[in-house]
Amino acid sequence: MDNMINKEDPALENNNSIDPVNSFQEKPKISGKQKQGLNNILFTLGMFTLAATIWLIGGSLWDDRYYVSEEGLGYWLGICGGVLILIAMLYAFVKRKLKRNPVLMRYWFISHTIFGIVGPLIILFHTTFQVGSYNGATALIATMLVFSSGVIGRYFVVGVRNAVDETQHDKLIKYVRHWRAIHVPLLYLLFMSGVVHVIAVHMY
Ligand code: HEM
Ligand code: HEM
Repeated sequence: MDNMINKEDPALENNNSIDPVNSFQEKPKISGKQKQGLNNILFTLGMFTLAATIWLIGGSLWDDRYYVSEEGLGYWLGICGGVLILIAMLYAFVKRKLKRNPVLMRYWFISHTIFGIVGPLIILFHTTFQVGSYNGATALIATMLVFSSGVIGRYFVVGVRNAVDETQHDKLIKYVRHWRAIHVPLLYLLFMSGVVHVIAVHMY
């Protein structure tokens, strides 16, 4: 019975208050939610660092003898990255269909995150770390904007799940709404610029 009361009392769940009588009290431990919040920050920063590192190191070590974007490996990297990004885009439709199935939704969200990360990173290799045309530049900027926006959106969406109280929860929900208003137009930009790029590289 005592246990039940302790569990339900939020004040007693908080390990941060120090008992002045018992000086041998254990050091306050980091809670599960705080740990998940920390993982969330590390994941977000890690993704930005990974993309920036690939671009900077790739650019400085690149030699045109390795491969070119126009044909062979470079061309196939463009197709693979492009297809993964298209699959990531399907999330918008799947989300609406699977709304009532949280388990499948969870798997789709994880798959979406993987495709949304791996696709743009493959595209970085496809570009051979250089930009030579306006259409290529626009497609690349749009890809990296959607990638960055996705990483930031994930930070908020996962943050909602890990929210420690209602105020934080409501605040993050508001951020997710604002974020979506930016993310969705960026998706259109990516789709359009990708199509223009593919047409342009086959025309000229
Ligand atoms: C969102 C996906 C893609 C992005 C961001 C992207 C970006 C780029 C960039 C930055 C270049 C370097 C040369 C330039 O600036 O024009 C390039 C070259 C090229 N890409 Fe893509 N690409 C994508 C998808 C594709 C796909 C799916 C194909 C093929 C179906 C493709 C075919 C090519 C070809 C043939 C070149 C060489 C053309 C040239 O150097 O002018 N790309 N791409
Ligand atoms: C080029 C890559 C990407 C594309 C094309 C893409 C596409 C999409 C689409 C179409 C949606 C649904 C928007 C809606 O109608 O509400 C979405 C939502 C989302 N994406 Fe991405 N995304 C990409 C990358 C990423 C990345 C890298 C992450 C995280 C690491 C991410 C995280 C999210 C999150 C958190 C949502 C909202 C989830 C929800 O409301 O259920 N995305 N994305």
